[in-house]
Amino acid sequence: MDIGTLYNGIKLVHMSCAGASVSLFTARGLWVNVARRGLWRWLRIVPHVIDTLLLASGLTLAFLIHQYPFFNSDWLTAKVIGLIAYIALGTVVFRGPSDRRWRALAGVLALLVFAYIVGVAVTMRPTGFLHFAL
Ligand code: HEM
Repeated sequence: MDIGTLYNGIKLVHMSCAGASVSLFTARGLWVNVARRGLWRWLRIVPHVIDTLLLASGLTLAFLIHQYPFFNSDWLTAKVIGLIAYIALGTVVFRGPSDRRWRALAGVLALLVFAYIVGVAVTMRPTGFLHFAL
């Protein structure tokens, strides 16, 4: 298999994980905080598997193009920081204060951070979609 095919395959896995991650995040957030129902066991485990795959596939792509976060790639640094913020906000949504307003705020912020990361991915610039406006 040539390197281009491998790269495109991993990129497809990466983008699929990104789509699955945000869909599950939204569904779980609404289920727990709006419908106020408990989560099935698998719905607590699968998102961690997907987010780990998302990070692993992203890092593999980064190594294949010789761009490394915190070393020689500002847009990948922005993605990693964004991913940490997205995961941290996710913990607030699912394990944070009992006040649902804080959880809702964290959920909206997490989705905004996610949109920012997609912008960074598409433009390959830390400014994300703002790049088109600047
Ligand atoms: C929530 C987290 C993330 C999301 C939503 C995300 C999303 C995406 C998307 C949508 C693409 C395709 C962009 C395009 O071609 O138009 C992409 C590509 C890529 N991502 Fe991520 N990503 C995330 C995290 C990461 C992390 C943590 C890394 C590495 C440290 C990473 C590295 C890459 C690389 C190297 C590409 C390939 C760029 C290219 O060749 O076009 N991503 N990502």
